[in-house]
Amino acid sequence: MLNYTYKKFFRRKILEQIKVMSVFGTRPEAIKMAPVVQELENDMNIKSIVCTTAQHREMLDQVLELFKIKPDYDLNIMKENQNLWSLTSDILLKMKDVLEQAQPDIVLVHGDTTTAFAAALSAFYAKIPVGHVEAGLRTFNKYYPFPEELNRVVADAVSTLYFAPTRTSVQNLLNSGIKEEKNIFQTGNTVIDALLYTVKNHETNLDNLKLNPDLRTILLTSHRRENLGKPLEEICDAILELVKTHKDIQVIYPVHLNPNVRKTVFEKLENHERIILTEPMEYAPFATLMKKADVILTDSGGIQEEAPALAKPVLVLRDETERPEALEFGTVKLVGTDKERIVSTVSALLNSKEEYDKMATAVNPYGDGLASKRIVKAILKYFAK
Ligand code: UD1
Ligand code: UDP
Repeated sequence: MLNYTYKKFFRRKILEQIKVMSVFGTRPEAIKMAPVVQELENDMNIKSIVCTTAQHREMLDQVLELFKIKPDYDLNIMKENQNLWSLTSDILLKMKDVLEQAQPDIVLVHGDTTTAFAAALSAFYAKIPVGHVEAGLRTFNKYYPFPEELNRVVADAVSTLYFAPTRTSVQNLLNSGIKEEKNIFQTGNTVIDALLYTVKNHETNLDNLKLNPDLRTILLTSHRRENLGKPLEEICDAILELVKTHKDIQVIYPVHLNPNVRKTVFEKLENHERIILTEPMEYAPFATLMKKADVILTDSGGIQEEAPALAKPVLVLRDETERPEALEFGTVKLVGTDKERIVSTVSALLNSKEEYDKMATAVNPYGDGLASKRIVKAILKYFAK
């Protein structure tokens, strides 16, 4: 009898599982959604469905492998040097078929990519609730970063549940007039979940990079659309100047696969003494490299969030940021893309221990490693109504 009741109960649970579809397509989305997918898969009340647009192909696959995620749907849309029009329409249309087939109860999207924007819109057209992970980030300048600011505004506009990483992002959502305050959850950023997990479980040997242990290491990444062309050339010129004037530094730059990035970077920096250009690195060695670096120069969103947790000074190669929190602690500084400004700011850091120590403080305004758990709890709460 007991056995029968248990079976009946268990069957009921399975039948009532909430179908949660996570959609992502680029490297940073995959890193930040991987811990959410792991949490969803661990909850017996949830049927986790993963759909990747593969807006990125190789850079996405690196992450799927690390976190052992096997997508249920792979839209495989990436094209060489793709444009925003075809990217958006491909995702919008292909998601229609996936949603019709999978019939999820909720669709989770992440951040500000075209995948997030188009997948959220597609779910909205199908009248399926959207949960936006990393909701509420804003620069309030619709052309900067482009097209990300608009992507996240639209993703928020069509969402039902908002997983905002910080107080500032919660406040941005409230200020934007969202009425369902109870559907806004301050969760922390899932990037910290991914980083802590990776640093703890996957510290990696970096011998293949052939870094010189006697030199100080500057880690550089730059890929943003608004930095393509002249700004990226200025960044490269600043690097050339820095290696010329500081004989005790080396620069390592894992170069993004965007052909517009690669053309400039390889033309300017290839075959240069103390400048190491690598392919995009897998997340585990990259996290190890961030820990090892002395200074980080980047226009990446995710690295702005990760590096402060590792006590690394970050100079952001942008004029505005939607991530103001670490600026307040002084671990992150905006330096823009002007060559002279980059050179003088990096030099000041390299030349003064006092300046360096002021920035090299471990702060964690973006999360505590439990964001994904909070997101899953919030989803269960929403469906328990
Ligand atoms: C995209 C996001 C950006 C995010 C960045 C993270 C949009 C509009 N942009 O920008 O918000 O910060 O990802 O990296 O959503 N490529 C490959 N293999 C890969 C990845 C990219 O070959 O694995 C090349 C392709 O030629 C592709 C191009 O890079 O067409 C650009 O990719 P795309 O996703 O359009 O733009 P990103 O600059 O990567
Ligand atoms: N990253 C990585 N390998 C690299 C460069 C970056 O794994 O060679 C990670 C980084 O730690 C961060 C994420 O990729 O978690 C950031 O991705 P990207 O800079 O492409 O995008 P953004 O954060 O600007 O959207």
